[in-house]
Amino acid sequence: MGTYLFIFYVLSFAISSPFSLSESDSLSRGSSLSLERKNDVLTSRNGVFSAGFYPVGVNAYCFAIWFNEASQNHNGTVVWMANRDQPVNGKGSKLMLREAGDLILSDAGRTTVWATTTFSLKPVQLHLSDSGNMVLLASDGVVLWQSFDSPTDTILTNQPFTRNTNLVSSRSRGNFSSGFYKLFFDGHDVLRLNFDSKALSSNYWPPEWALPWDVGRVAYNHSTFAWLDPLGYFDSSDKFNFSSEDYGSRLIHRRLRLDHDGNLRLYSRKSLGDRWVVSWQAFHNPCKIHGVCGPNSLCTFDHFDRKCSCLPGHQMKNREDWSYGCEPDFNLSCDENEYRFLKLPRAEFYGYDFHSSPNYTFTDCQNLCLQRCECKGFEHSFSLDEGIFNCYTKTLLTNGYQVPSYSGDTYIKLPKNYHLSDEESKLNCSDRVITHAKIKSHENQTVRFILWFATGIGGLEIISILFVWCLLIKTQQNSTANARSNVLVTTRFKRFSFAELKKATRGFSQEIGRGSEGIVYKAILSDSRVAAVKRLNEASCQGEAEFLAEISTIGRLNHMNLIEMWGYCAEGNHRLLVYEYLEHGSLDENLSRNVLDWKKRFEIAVGTAKGLAYLHEECLEWILHCDVKPQNVLLSSNYQPKVADFGLSKLLKRGELINKPSFSRIRGTRGYMAPEWVTNQSITSKVDVYSYGVVVLEILTGKSPTAIDGAKDMKHGGLVKWVKQSLIDASSSETTLRVEKIMDPSMKGEYDAEKMETLLRAALECVAEDKDARPTMSQVVEALLHDHENYH
Ligand SMILES: *[C@@H]1O[C@H](CO)[C@@H](O)[C@H](O)[C@H]1NC(C)=O
Ligand SMILES: *[C@@H]1O[C@H](CO)[C@@H](O)[C@H](O)[C@H]1NC(C)=O
Ligand SMILES: *[C@@H]1O[C@H](CO)[C@@H](O)[C@H](O)[C@H]1NC(C)=O
Ligand SMILES: *[C@@H]1O[C@H](CO)[C@@H](O)[C@H](O)[C@H]1NC(C)=O
Ligand SMILES: *[C@@H]1O[C@H](CO)[C@@H](O)[C@H](O)[C@H]1NC(C)=O
Ligand SMILES: *[C@@H]1O[C@H](CO)[C@@H](O)[C@H](O)[C@H]1NC(C)=O
Ligand SMILES: *[C@@H]1O[C@H](CO)[C@@H](O)[C@H](O)[C@H]1NC(C)=O
Repeated sequence: MGTYLFIFYVLSFAISSPFSLSESDSLSRGSSLSLERKNDVLTSRNGVFSAGFYPVGVNAYCFAIWFNEASQNHNGTVVWMANRDQPVNGKGSKLMLREAGDLILSDAGRTTVWATTTFSLKPVQLHLSDSGNMVLLASDGVVLWQSFDSPTDTILTNQPFTRNTNLVSSRSRGNFSSGFYKLFFDGHDVLRLNFDSKALSSNYWPPEWALPWDVGRVAYNHSTFAWLDPLGYFDSSDKFNFSSEDYGSRLIHRRLRLDHDGNLRLYSRKSLGDRWVVSWQAFHNPCKIHGVCGPNSLCTFDHFDRKCSCLPGHQMKNREDWSYGCEPDFNLSCDENEYRFLKLPRAEFYGYDFHSSPNYTFTDCQNLCLQRCECKGFEHSFSLDEGIFNCYTKTLLTNGYQVPSYSGDTYIKLPKNYHLSDEESKLNCSDRVITHAKIKSHENQTVRFILWFATGIGGLEIISILFVWCLLIKTQQNSTANARSNVLVTTRFKRFSFAELKKATRGFSQEIGRGSEGIVYKAILSDSRVAAVKRLNEASCQGEAEFLAEISTIGRLNHMNLIEMWGYCAEGNHRLLVYEYLEHGSLDENLSRNVLDWKKRFEIAVGTAKGLAYLHEECLEWILHCDVKPQNVLLSSNYQPKVADFGLSKLLKRGELINKPSFSRIRGTRGYMAPEWVTNQSITSKVDVYSYGVVVLEILTGKSPTAIDGAKDMKHGGLVKWVKQSLIDASSSETTLRVEKIMDPSMKGEYDAEKMETLLRAALECVAEDKDARPTMSQVVEALLHDHENYH
C-alpha cells in the first residue's frame, strides 16, 4: 500500500496537468473496497488524502480517511474513522457501495459493522474530495451522506461543526477507540469540552464554575456553528475564536483534533511528509484538563512534561493506564480518632465537594472533614479578593493538580497508623517539585543535573551559578533544532531562536540594564509584546540540559509580584532569558526621582513582600533570592512591584543549606546584606528578610544604605543604625513625630502616619541582628495586610 501511495504521490505531483485516475478517488455503485487487495484505497486528486482500511491493532482494521505521507515509514495521520469502536477482521472485510445507494462496512463478509443507511434511485458514487471529505453523491448532484457530517476526533479546514456534530477523543495514543473527551455545543449553544469516564463526568472548558459571558462566550445563539478557515482562524457562533500561530497562509495543511489527553489542538504543516506542529491549543497547562491522571492522583506540569503521581497511601490501579487513577492502600473507618492529615501544598482537586464554606478556619475545616466518614480530604484556600479562607470538603479526590501559583492547599485524610514511605513523607512538606523535571532530551548523552553546588564568590554582585556550568559547555545545535521543531509556540513560555531575539532586540542595540551575569536589552517580539532580554555572559554559559532544567523551574514560578519569564534561548553558546518588560523601571530609579507617594510606597512594600514570600514558600521550592535590593524590584505600569533576578541565585533544598557551610560565603550587595554573611552563620531565607527590611527602610526614608551621611561603618547596617538612632533620639516625642523624623522629606509629610508606622515596625523586625528574631516573609505579608485591611 505504501509503495503504491508513494508512486501515486510522486506521479500526481511530477505531472503538472491534473493526473486523472477516476477509479482512484471514487468508487462506483456495486463495487467495493476489500481489505485484502492492498491497492484498494481511494486517494483524493490532489494526493493529500486517502481512504481505506487502516490497521489499528493485531488483525484489526478500521475504515478511515488519513493524510497521506510521502514516506513509507509513516502511517498516515487519521482524520476520520467509520468504525473506531468495532474494528474489522483482516480477512474478508469489505466496504461496499450497494445498488440501493447505501454504503456498508462488513466484517469478514457477514456482519455489518457500519452503514450509511442511505437510499437512492439514481446512480450513486463515493468520492474522496481534495478537502478530505468523503461524499456519497447521487448522479443528480444530491449529497446523500458525507464524512464531514460525522467527524471522529478531527475537523479539517472548511468542515462545519454544528449542534449535530461532536468530536470524541481517542482512548490513547495508539488506541483509536472512543475515549473520554468530547467537544460539543451544549444545551445553551456554548462550545464545550467534557470529560466523561462513565464513573465521573464534568465540563472543563470553559470552566464549569464560570458563566459563559464571563469567559467571553455568548449563550443561546441558535445558529450553533463553528469552523476553521483555511488561513487558520477558528470562529464559533458562541463568540469563541482564535487564530493559529501561523495564521495567514492558505497553503498549509491544518487539522483541529481533540487529542486523547483532552486537549484541543490545531496542528499545521507545510506539505505532505513534513512534521505536524501544534499551532494553537486550548490548554497550556494540561493538568487542568479533567481526568488526566484519574482519581486519587496528582498532576504536575513543568512546561515540558506532564507527570502523574499517586497520592500518598495510594497505588496505581492499572499500571498501563493513568486514566484509572489510583486506589487507597487502606480502608477508611468512621472513627475520627484514627486519622491524620497530610498537606499537599498548592494542590487543587476539582469537584465532589460535599460542603463549601467561606471564611472557615483551618481547624473548623479539618473538624468538618473528620466528622464525616465519606470525607477524603479538604482544601483550605485563601481568597485574595475577600481576604478570607474558604473550606472545601471532598468526597472524592479527582482532577488533582499542583501549581505553585495556586493559593490553596489540600489536606488528605490518612489513617494514623498508616506508615508513609520516605518518599511520601517528604510530600508533607514537599520538595518533590524541586526535583528537576527530566527534560526530554534528544541527545544521547545522559542528562546530568548539577543541583546543589555552591559557588561562593564574594563580592558586591551575586555571581550566578550559571558561571560554574561553564565547565559543561556543550554545543548541541542539532538537539536545539529538534526540540524546537515540534513546538511551534504553544505556550506563552517559549523557546526562542537566537536569530529571533537578535531581530527583536534590533541587533542588541537598546541596553536597559547591566549586571554581573549579563546585559539586559529591550526587545519587541514578533507578536508585538515588549520584552526585556537578558543575554547571559557567554563565559557563564552552561550545557543545554542543565540550562533547561533550571529554566523550567524558574519559568514555573508564577506570581503577580515576580517578574514573568516568557521564554529563553539556548543555542550554541548563547543563553538568553526573555522577561516581561516593565515600563516604570526599578524601584531604585523611582526613589531617586522622588516620584513615589506614600500609597505607592506602601503597595510596593506589600507586593515585594508577597513576591518574596512566594519564593520562600516552604513546601514547594525554596529559592533564596540573596540579592534583594531596589535595583531588583521593578515597577509595572500601575506601580505593581515585581521582584526580578530570582532563581539566578541558588535553588536550595530545605535543610540542605543548614548543613552546607560552603554556601556561607558572602554574596549580595553591600548595604543590604544580613549580618550572617560575615559572621559565618548558616544562611537561611532570613537573609532575604533582612535585605527586605533594609529596602523598606529605604522606601520610608528615601535614603540609600550605601550613602548615609556620616555613617562611617559602611560594611553593613549603616541605614539601620541611622534609623534606630533617630528613633531613640526622638524617644520622648509622640510616635507620629518620631516617624516624621525619619520619613523621606520629599513626601512633605503627606502620608498616612499609622500605615507608615506599621511598615516601619515590620521593617525594624526584619532587620533584627538575630536571624531567629526576624519574621518570615509570609508573616510580614500578614502583618502588613492585616493592618492594611483595618484601615479600609
Ligand atoms: C482500546 O481501548 C478499549 C477501551 O479501553 C479496549 O477495549 C480495546 O481493547 C483497546 N484496543 C486496543 C487495540 O488496545
Ligand atoms: C504503521 O502501522 C503498522 C501496522 O499496524 C505498525 O506495525 C507500525 O508500527 C506503524 N508505523 C508507525 C510509524 O506508526
Ligand atoms: C450567531 O452566530 C452567527 C454565526 O457565527 C453570527 O453570524 C451571528 O452574528 C451570531 N448572532 C449573535 C446574536 O451573536
Ligand atoms: C475574537 O474574539 C474576541 C473576543 O471575544 C473579539 O474581540 C474579536 O473581535 C474576535 N475576532 C474576530 C475576528 O471576530
Ligand atoms: C479492606 O477491607 C477489605 C474487606 O473488608 C479487606 O479484604 C482488605 O484486606 C482491607 N484492606 C486493607 C488494606 O486493610
Ligand atoms: C505533616 O506535617 C504536619 C506538621 O509538620 C504534621 O502535624 C502532620 O501529622 C504530618 N502528616 C503526616 C501524614 O505525616
Ligand atoms: C470571618 O469570620 C470571623 C469570625 O467568625 C468574623 O469576625 C469575620 O468578620 C468574618 N469575615 C468575613 C469577611 O466574613
